[in-house]
Amino acid sequence: MRETLTLTRPDDWHVHLRQGAMLGLAAAHTAARFGRAAVMPNLSPPVETVARALDYRAEIMAALPAGAEFNPMMSLYLTDHTAPDEVAAAARCAHIIAYKLYPAGTTTHSEAGVTRIAPVMPALEAMAGHGVVLQVHAEVRDPQVDVFDREAVFIEQVLEPLHRELPELKIVVEHVTTEQGVDFVRHSGDHVAATVTAHHLLFNRNQMFRGGLRPHAYCLPVAKRERHRVALVEAATSGDRSFFLGTDSAPHRRRDKESACGCAGIYSAHAAVELYAEIFESAGALDRLEGFAGHYGADFYGLERNRGRLTLEKKARRVAPAYALGGGDEVVPLRAGETLTWSVLPPGH
Ligand code: NCD
Ligand code: ZN
Repeated sequence: MRETLTLTRPDDWHVHLRQGAMLGLAAAHTAARFGRAAVMPNLSPPVETVARALDYRAEIMAALPAGAEFNPMMSLYLTDHTAPDEVAAAARCAHIIAYKLYPAGTTTHSEAGVTRIAPVMPALEAMAGHGVVLQVHAEVRDPQVDVFDREAVFIEQVLEPLHRELPELKIVVEHVTTEQGVDFVRHSGDHVAATVTAHHLLFNRNQMFRGGLRPHAYCLPVAKRERHRVALVEAATSGDRSFFLGTDSAPHRRRDKESACGCAGIYSAHAAVELYAEIFESAGALDRLEGFAGHYGADFYGLERNRGRLTLEKKARRVAPAYALGGGDEVVPLRAGETLTWSVLPPGH
């Protein structure tokens, strides 16, 4: 008998869709699985204004395959200069759901990000007042801090004090990777949540050094020790409504990854829901996947849950070794050339 699993159509609350040929690839993979996605604004130049976000959203809609039903929800890029008036305009726009805080210098295209909390306090107060969510890349940029400690230090030095000062601000700790992050979210009430990626649930830091240096397993925040991975699996599969799906699927060209200074980012949009199904199944929690993937994120953002459904089948599928972008460029996906245990059925199967 065919083993299938039907879920409320899930949402991806953290994805990088990029532009150009990469957008075509990423948008098709994301739209084949998710009803909505929180689209990250770290383009170059970054998406800072409502007007620019609406232009970018139109680019995404134009890149979707014919017939796709997908609603990109835009995040704006917070800078030291974001004006409270722009926050108010963002709050009035139904296509915009959040601001993303990148501490300057922490990750891909974060140069224009936030240097300290003090200059962004007026914007954060406006967000709290208008109910706009703050998505946070929770890492300190101090090069003196060990790369594996940057999330824990950021939580202690920046997020805990911010949450105490502005408890009404809704905060998402994006791509949480540590026990400390999980504890903070668990104990901070209804206004603090976290997205959890598939790759941080699957890998610990050994994956980057398995038989040699593995650039395709490198992302930021970097994967941590096994006990942190175990804490993430426990949080994601526990049914705690503060943890929900965000892939952080972040495609880069193969040559930018396989380089003397390789870019951070893992491409997972081609297999996102399938991988989460595999993780929840091995944790014995397949019955909790629907809440994590399709309910809790929408609830946190104050949006209706999707009405559509997505069906997965327990059927092996081999992942392509790479996806061509044209011009000789390609993207190497997570599990390249390997097998997935679940497959997504096309709509109306
Ligand atoms: C992301 C990217 O490439 O845009 N990279 C990553 O490793 N996650 C940026 C980010 O989300 O930090
Ligand atoms: Zn990201």
